Amino acid sequence: MGRRCPRRRILAAACLGAVLLLLCVAPRALRPAFESRPLGSGWLSGRRRSPLQMLHDLDQGPRSPLAEAHRQRRDLLRRACSRHARRQRLLRPEDLRHVLVDDAHGLLYCYVPKVACTNWKRVLLALSGRAHGDPRAIPAHEAHAPGRLPSLADFGPAEINQRLRTYLAFLFVREPFERLASAYRNKFARPYSEAFQRRYGTRIIRRLRPGAQPEALARGHDVRFAEFLAYLLDPRTRRGEPFNEHWERAHALCHPCRLRYDVVGKFETLAEDAAFVLGLVGAPGLHFPAPPRPRAAAAARDYAARLFQDISPFYQRRLFDLYKMDFLLFNYSVPAYLRLH
Ligand SMILES: *[C@@H]1O[C@H](CO)[C@@H](O)[C@H](O)[C@H]1NC(C)=O
Repeated sequence: MGRRCPRRRILAAACLGAVLLLLCVAPRALRPAFESRPLGSGWLSGRRRSPLQMLHDLDQGPRSPLAEAHRQRRDLLRRACSRHARRQRLLRPEDLRHVLVDDAHGLLYCYVPKVACTNWKRVLLALSGRAHGDPRAIPAHEAHAPGRLPSLADFGPAEINQRLRTYLAFLFVREPFERLASAYRNKFARPYSEAFQRRYGTRIIRRLRPGAQPEALARGHDVRFAEFLAYLLDPRTRRGEPFNEHWERAHALCHPCRLRYDVVGKFETLAEDAAFVLGLVGAPGLHFPAPPRPRAAAAARDYAARLFQDISPFYQRRLFDLYKMDFLLFNYSVPAYLRLH
């Protein structure tokens, strides 16, 4: 990140002119030279350093252990991308739906459901002045209301490129199978997600449970984990539409091998990583709402292990293959409970 050379600048300039975006995310200038942008506030007028500049400063000086850990994560992601990401199609603006924009602070946050994204949306609403007071007090439905926070997909190519070059981009990821177990529990195993059960549960039961009871067919309320996995692995599932965002792979939502993320936060170290991001933003007094307690984190791990216990090695292997990129890109090791051989 600290190394800049004229070639990169030229690349950046070329990218700015490109109509189809986004291959230009790697060469990002750290000191934006455009003073006359209409975006206006704070650091753009030179009064404050942007979060991206703050990160750059951290990387120049003696690094704290936390800053060093983040630098290593970024490097690992970059190496894993060059090793494993195959040639990919060009991104279109609508691929950037999950990247939320805070123009006031110069932030891009790619949200991954089941990874504290409600709380991050609350924090962004509070930061951007769209909601006042303690982020914890913002109701979840308000945080998730469409259009409350602008997304990169709402902008044109030039505006997108400009933000990609100069804003601090971050995302938060989680151990892929714990995230999947959490999605299953939240959307299928618990009784309160009726809309989800009606939409996806009925579909899963109709397709995958021969001789299902009429009540199950009508309500979709009792999908078993094995059925949910069979639905994920069924080639018909993704033929018409992508996975629902709650179980879509993080790399498919956030494109970490195409966009350059400056901070890769992890659910497993949510409190420290959130504080690191908020420190770069320079938002003293703003605290990330209640990260999970150690006991809850351990319970989530046990829950995933228990769910996978009843799954055959054949399906475990296929499911691992489906989520493999998230394991590789974000340095998660193969869960000990899997029987892959
Ligand atoms: C990757 O994971 C291993 C094992 O958990 C850990 O020791 C290592 O520090 C991690 N690397 C990075 C860059 O986070």
